[in-house]
Amino acid sequence: MTDDLELRVAEPGDAPELLRVIRAAFSARRPVDPPADALTDDVADIERALIDGTGVVGEVAGHLVAGLLLEVDGDVATLRRVSVAPEHAGRGVAKLIVEGALTLAVDMGARRVEIMAREEFPEILTWWREHGFEVTAQVPHGYTMGRDLPVIVDVPTADHMHALGARLARLLRKGDIIVATGDLGAGKTTLTQGIGMGLGVTGPIISPTFVISRVHPHPGDGPALVHVDAYRLGGSAELADIDLDASLSDAVTIVEWGSGLAEWLSDSRLEIDIVRGLDSDERTVYLTGIGPRWAGALDPLREQLT
Ligand SMILES: Nc1ncnc2c1ncn2[C@@H]1O[C@H](COP(=O)(O)OP(=O)(O)OP(=O)(O)O)[C@@H](O)[C@H]1O
Ligand SMILES: [Mg+2]
Repeated sequence: MTDDLELRVAEPGDAPELLRVIRAAFSARRPVDPPADALTDDVADIERALIDGTGVVGEVAGHLVAGLLLEVDGDVATLRRVSVAPEHAGRGVAKLIVEGALTLAVDMGARRVEIMAREEFPEILTWWREHGFEVTAQVPHGYTMGRDLPVIVDVPTADHMHALGARLARLLRKGDIIVATGDLGAGKTTLTQGIGMGLGVTGPIISPTFVISRVHPHPGDGPALVHVDAYRLGGSAELADIDLDASLSDAVTIVEWGSGLAEWLSDSRLEIDIVRGLDSDERTVYLTGIGPRWAGALDPLREQLT
């Protein structure tokens, strides 16, 4: 798989190798008219892009196999030349370099990211859509696609995770869907507890693994909390079986392990990915709002963090 891939920030000295990968990747596509700009780049172009902006490269055994260019202008980051050497395609490498670039763009102060996709490659548009990008404009020979960047929060302890949930709760309203991912014990339920406290719903919130879903009513007229654990669910058909629809519009619904299952519930969702630190209790939480409901909606949280 991609275990052997190492990501790092590109340096100007990477230009010749990066150009080789860009050419290989773009030549492997069906020819288009006019040809991709990428095919007319020379080393100086790539070097200049890496000096004026930056980039991300992926290496296997010290050998550059993937890369992209990243430019940040004010709030907006632009990715260009997203390339994976053809012999490394289809292993999730593109996803990893793009995720690396998004993290870098957040560090550089951007809030949104954009790409340009050629209209001749519907499969590439689909790939970007699956990664949260939506078409924002039609341009000659293609589309601009963009998405909000994730809000990234370092969470040192379980108490901090509760506090993050409580802060997040202030941004939530009836009908919201949250999809929480992260390994066993990452802290999905702990975060849900914080959200429950913030919403003021009836507890206790415990791992719903043995019941699949639990509804925590709100004592007033605030949203209830529907807490679902999709770990044992076979597929979205089963998720439909538990009759979530009845309660969705009056509740905030959080689905643990819901990635790939819960997306059909709504075209807008808040994706929360929790990643454990290697040798501490620290967690890194990536919050990504997808769809019209979330456009700019995480900005209050983003501002509190910076
Ligand atoms: N920084 C932290 N953030 C969250 N939880 C932490 C942190 N440090 C330690 N913990 C502990 O890690 C555990 C996380 O368990 P939790 O049930 O929330 O994970 P989960 O992602 O829901 O797991 P599962 O996939 O089994 O449902 C808790 O015991 C919590 O106290
Ligand atoms: Mg859990």
